Amino acid sequence: MAALDRELAFQTSARYDLLASTHVAHIELGAPDLEEQLGRAIAKAEGVIAVTGRIGAGKSSLISAVTSGLNEGFVPLRISVVGVEAGDPAAFARHAMLEIRDLPETRLAEHERRALARDTALARTTEERTELRAGFEIAAGEVFTPMVLADLQKIASETLTHGADPAEILAGLQRLLDAFWRLGRCPVLIVDDTDHWGGEPDSADAFFDQTARALGRLDAVTVVQAQTAYTELGGYQRVRETFTAELHLPALPDPRAALVAILQRRIDGAGVQARVSDVFEPGGLDLLRDAYLASAADGRAGDLRHLLVVARSALELAVEDELAGQVGTGQVQEALARNPLGPGSALP
Ligand SMILES: Nc1ncnc2c1ncn2[C@@H]1O[C@H](COP(=O)(O)OP(=O)(O)OP(=O)(O)O)[C@@H](O)[C@H]1O
Ligand SMILES: [Mg+2]
Repeated sequence: MAALDRELAFQTSARYDLLASTHVAHIELGAPDLEEQLGRAIAKAEGVIAVTGRIGAGKSSLISAVTSGLNEGFVPLRISVVGVEAGDPAAFARHAMLEIRDLPETRLAEHERRALARDTALARTTEERTELRAGFEIAAGEVFTPMVLADLQKIASETLTHGADPAEILAGLQRLLDAFWRLGRCPVLIVDDTDHWGGEPDSADAFFDQTARALGRLDAVTVVQAQTAYTELGGYQRVRETFTAELHLPALPDPRAALVAILQRRIDGAGVQARVSDVFEPGGLDLLRDAYLASAADGRAGDLRHLLVVARSALELAVEDELAGQVGTGQVQEALARNPLGPGSALP
């Protein structure tokens, strides 16, 4: 128990890139194969895919696991919604260009950075683009080569220094995405931090109504996480029929077994040799299952983040109690009292 506590085995990180390593596939959780469904939707290589569920249901975990496991025909490009007028497609496109342009910088060695100064960009017409798209074939090799980076930088700066005409900016973003198509790779835009709009239904509404619509017209795939409450906004409802796919995270049919699988993955990941049943008393697991069921309304997924927060808090209590050989029912009860279930969405 002390080792699990020290290793922060049950910690719920806000970092998107860390989610994939602790993800347990839905099929292993006894649920429909959402990983396969999302992978298949992305393979269509077009339009917007929405992943919906309550707060803490596992939307980001699913998106992170699936997009990080895509084959080399795809390039995942994560775009943050923080600091951008979400309902303004041109502002969003401009911001996306900056993010994509700067994304690979961190992966570059100094000599590669210098090579960026070289001018290698190719002009592309719409007809060429259509041909490119039609002949889409998976290509092997490194994506962010200095040449490609130079392309990205050039296209971005051309668009960003010339005027603020919305149509031009969106066309500029498409040219940027074409740099990936030219390599035989489909760009996959990931808009995952939409929980940032929590208290602002207008931002969420306008994002779907305007920006998601514009992204859907681009020659790229866009994966968007949406809290269930967003799906009731007028803007979402007006655009949803244009989506390539809408995946709703379902309630896990056997939450106790699912919980054990998720905790076991965390224990293994922490490098601790133990079974969940060594760590938790059966009664404690029953309480955690009940907490999940209380958050899983209408056949939709419950709050897995809450379960992990409670499990971690109960573990801490057990570690503090020198007499406790396991995380007991009492500690889980106390942890539940200290960490009550939050709302399903941050919308007011
Ligand atoms: N399939 C899964 N396997 C293992 N852990 C999971 C799974 N789904 C979710 N989790 C864990 O539950 C927590 C919440 O998941 P996640 O961040 O994906 O929720 P979310 O639906 O994106 O929430 P939010 O609406 O706040 O963005 C994370 O710590 C994650 O590691
Ligand atoms: Mg999320």
